[in-house]
Amino acid sequence: MMNKYVSGLYLTLIMIGLLFLAACGTADDATADSNAEGQAEENAEKPVLRVGTEATFAPFEFLEKGEIVGFDADLLDAVLTEAGYEYEYENVGWDPMMASLQNKDMDFGAAAITINDDRKQTYDFSVPYFKSTHMIVFNEGAGFTSAKDLEGIKIGVQNGTTGESAAEKVVGEKNSNILKYDSTAVAFLALKNGDVDAVVTDNVVADEYVEKNPDANVEAITDDETFSAEYYGFMFPKGSELVAEVDAALTTVIENGTYAKIYKEWFGAEPNTDVLLEAAE
Ligand code: ARG
Repeated sequence: MMNKYVSGLYLTLIMIGLLFLAACGTADDATADSNAEGQAEENAEKPVLRVGTEATFAPFEFLEKGEIVGFDADLLDAVLTEAGYEYEYENVGWDPMMASLQNKDMDFGAAAITINDDRKQTYDFSVPYFKSTHMIVFNEGAGFTSAKDLEGIKIGVQNGTTGESAAEKVVGEKNSNILKYDSTAVAFLALKNGDVDAVVTDNVVADEYVEKNPDANVEAITDDETFSAEYYGFMFPKGSELVAEVDAALTTVIENGTYAKIYKEWFGAEPNTDVLLEAAE
């Protein structure tokens, strides 16, 4: 009698236990499911964006301990945080970045990319975020004083950049004295090795190189009569629906002082944001 009673009690307890576990299991599963759905819904609205660059262009984008840092990296982060996007910032190289954007394999490029009519035929741009011009970098003592001095010397440029067009404007488009490199860093190396006599690149990058490489013994000059002002923007595949959202976020970041904070961190000066807002119109 007693045994039967005890075993009956055990059975009941076991069954209650099993029911309890089953209930927990169901509850857990339900929570997990709804989380997964919520995540999926969120991701469907906001994909993780793929942003490309060529990261040997200090102080805009360069590698530090394997990470892409620089003015563009910080601005990009501020803008996409403002727009509510997660993103991957990838150092794919200049030409591959251009190709990926043309094929719509990447969402946009953040690489100190100059907005110009030529590129506008193939790509779309954000509003401008930085004003730039060109400079000529050369070995100390070469005595260059203006863009005219580029005539007859070997000129290094980054292939497919506006530095290349700036040099071509001076010495002619098919001039074999223009040597084209995959990156500006390699063009600077060519100058160091004596393969070229000068490098034409964006002014802030030229200044940064001169300042950060005292051992290279180089100097840089501008020529406002020859080189004109240009503006950087984020570059998108043609027809990208992201442009409007990124523009709104970028404008907010410029207007709310975040842009000025980042600018000061990198350039130690107050930016002229009026110039950017005017250029945007
Ligand atoms: N502003 C120039 C251009 O758009 C040079 C940009 C180079 N950028 C870079 N990340 N390497 O052609």
